[in-house]
Amino acid sequence: STEWIKAIARDEVPEEDVIAVQAGGREIALYGVDGEVYATANLCTHGNARLCDGFLEGHEIECPLHQGRFDVRDGRALCSPLRENLATYPVRIEDGMVFVAL
Ligand code: FES
Repeated sequence: STEWIKAIARDEVPEEDVIAVQAGGREIALYGVDGEVYATANLCTHGNARLCDGFLEGHEIECPLHQGRFDVRDGRALCSPLRENLATYPVRIEDGMVFVAL
């Protein structure tokens, strides 16, 4: 069953950038893009790298280790060396807080 977990204040999510949060015992990356907030797993599906240390351009997060890119909207792996998509989580904004469904 879906559980909505309070992650962070909405205004702490940086615009055009990424921040990592702990939510429900998991490490989640939150992205601010064009006024929207997107959530994915923070760990790259290719290796031991944290996407919060990567580079966000538009809706694409680039892994800091081998420059694999994912679309933060659906977790799609966009290029090599990535083979596996990234988990994404639904986001809800309520009372100035960001909630993610885990
Ligand atoms: Fe992310 Fe290799 S660890 S692309």
